[in-house]
Amino acid sequence: MSKTITGFSKLSKSKKIDWIVNTYFSNAEDAKTILKQYWNTNNQLQQLHDEFIENTITNYYLPLGVAPNFLINNKIYTIPMAIEESSVVAAASKAAKFWLERGGFKTKVISSTKIGQVHFIYKGNFDKLKQFFTQVKPKLIEGTDAITKNMKKRGGGILDIELRNKTSDIDNYYQLHASFETLDAMGANFINSCLEQFAKTFKEEALSFDLFSKNNRQIDIIMSILSNYVPDCLVRAEVSCPVEELSEGNNISGEAFARKFIQAVNIAEVEPYRAVTHNKGIMNGIDAVVLATGNDFRAVEAGVHAYASRHGTYSSLTHAKIEDGIFSFWMEIPLALGTVGGLTGLHPLVKLALELLHKPSAQELMQIVAVAGLAQNFAALRSLTTTGIQKGHMKMHLMNILNQFEANAEEKQTLTEYFKSNAVTHSAVVEAINKLRVSSEK
Ligand code: MEV
Repeated sequence: MSKTITGFSKLSKSKKIDWIVNTYFSNAEDAKTILKQYWNTNNQLQQLHDEFIENTITNYYLPLGVAPNFLINNKIYTIPMAIEESSVVAAASKAAKFWLERGGFKTKVISSTKIGQVHFIYKGNFDKLKQFFTQVKPKLIEGTDAITKNMKKRGGGILDIELRNKTSDIDNYYQLHASFETLDAMGANFINSCLEQFAKTFKEEALSFDLFSKNNRQIDIIMSILSNYVPDCLVRAEVSCPVEELSEGNNISGEAFARKFIQAVNIAEVEPYRAVTHNKGIMNGIDAVVLATGNDFRAVEAGVHAYASRHGTYSSLTHAKIEDGIFSFWMEIPLALGTVGGLTGLHPLVKLALELLHKPSAQELMQIVAVAGLAQNFAALRSLTTTGIQKGHMKMHLMNILNQFEANAEEKQTLTEYFKSNAVTHSAVVEAINKLRVSSEK
């Protein structure tokens, strides 16, 4: 049976590690060595990481790669990507190169509004609640002046607050549904602080509102929290070119490739089993850039998938068509991102990633991230509808298999060369390593 412990968070880092390795590992010293291998020798940097979360015992590394040659609205970008999946950066780079020669990516931010809600229960007459809301609304906004001052100076802040009647869903359930412009901040702290202040003012003012009967004065606040569903914080990314220009490197005419590609998109539009995998491929690109730039990939994931289901069935985020001989492929997705606040000014690699991207505004970052998603989907569909996905995947996975078998530099070189002209499968790699080792023993 696993052991429990009280006061773990109050132990020193080394005591925490001692408890973990002695409680859970057959070889405590080996486990400790692995944990310590990932510490940074720069104490200040390590302390920074230790303090990001509670109970840090080591650092968890992901590779940070880059995909160069992205032409976005006539400007070239090298996009940083933090991801463990071997083929993702290669696929992004390939798609970037492909579209570099065909006019690049065109993007635009459609809207940038974020949402937060105060959920509450009120057991009285709705008309009276409406009157109360109309009277108290300016006070709700005034009450947040200290929180919104700086944001307002920069041109953002609270856009509106609506009272929403949700009693057809749950008895006596209402919301203050507020919209915000948070500029270059993702805005979670800003929005949540405003919402908690709305809730406080709302409850306090209700106590002295004349039309509420004594028994019905009670506004019961359930919770105040931003929404990660941001369908009005939307960005569009698109590529297009004459159909005949699609033929390059595919052993297939541009027309045939485009038709097959569009069929693949259409399937993901109507078939949820395929749509989930299709969109997962898009998120390969999106998450990698979101993570590299210190943004909240869980928020992005939740919001994007909700958006993909907005018509009642989970569906493709991308779309494609041929019109007047022009192939177009595009995507509109909600992305709540920040380039100030949070990790962006704290994590040295995040700062570096943002500088690599020419220090973008949040709106610029939305466009770059959307492009990474669209490029990833293009690369996946291009492979799926022509060579199949495994050829590229296994080529990139080769190094993982070689590392699993602790291949040395010479073995890696020989086998990488060999697999340039032979199909990579797990068993083929194992067989080739064994053969090589046997022959070098002779
Ligand atoms: C793998 O990580 C992503 C793909 O499955 C996406 C797709 O099928 O479109 C290749």
